[in-house]
Amino acid sequence: MLQDIERVLISEKQLQERISELGKQLAADYADKEPIFVGVLKGVVNFFTDMVRATQIRCQYDFMAVSSYGSGTSTSGNVRLLKDISTDIQGRHVVILEDILDSGLTLSFVKERLLSMEPASLKICTLLDKPERRRVDVYADYIGFTIPNEFVVGYGLDYKEFYRNLPFVGVLKPEVYSK
Ligand code: IMP
Ligand code: MG
Repeated sequence: MLQDIERVLISEKQLQERISELGKQLAADYADKEPIFVGVLKGVVNFFTDMVRATQIRCQYDFMAVSSYGSGTSTSGNVRLLKDISTDIQGRHVVILEDILDSGLTLSFVKERLLSMEPASLKICTLLDKPERRRVDVYADYIGFTIPNEFVVGYGLDYKEFYRNLPFVGVLKPEVYSK
């Protein structure tokens, strides 16, 4: 698996330091709000578990699963709901946790769906932001790292469902795509 990685973009240490800062920020902003953290599966799994451990306040979890990619390295443009949340979020403070904001199609779909359930507030926290690729207007309130327009894997992010378990965020060798 490691031989497919061209270089490490964000190391394990950099990830943990930034998540610790973000967690403190979220904890301060949501101290008395009992927020619901909604993770967008599957890419968010690693970030989600580290993030909630860094945010030491009363909170609840839920998850949504959507698919937009097929098996390539850019969005198909078609977002499908695979799994909905199971909590009643009406009147609650909700924070969406996501691995990466790319074209924005996934998050705008998730955001619209959750907004229709009338939460008291809705914010977005993304580990990575690739602003150059944006196709729709959607912004994150909390951003871990802004990255250039390169396809990355690891720490939850996949290529064809592999590489999610790498402890860092890295760039794949171009020859891996052409296999
Ligand atoms: P968007 O809908 O184009 O914003 O893409 C969001 C989703 O696409 C993310 O949740 C990821 O699953 C996937 N994605 C976008 N960019 C990358 C990448 O560089 N590596 C791996 N997955 C990505
Ligand atoms: Mg994802």
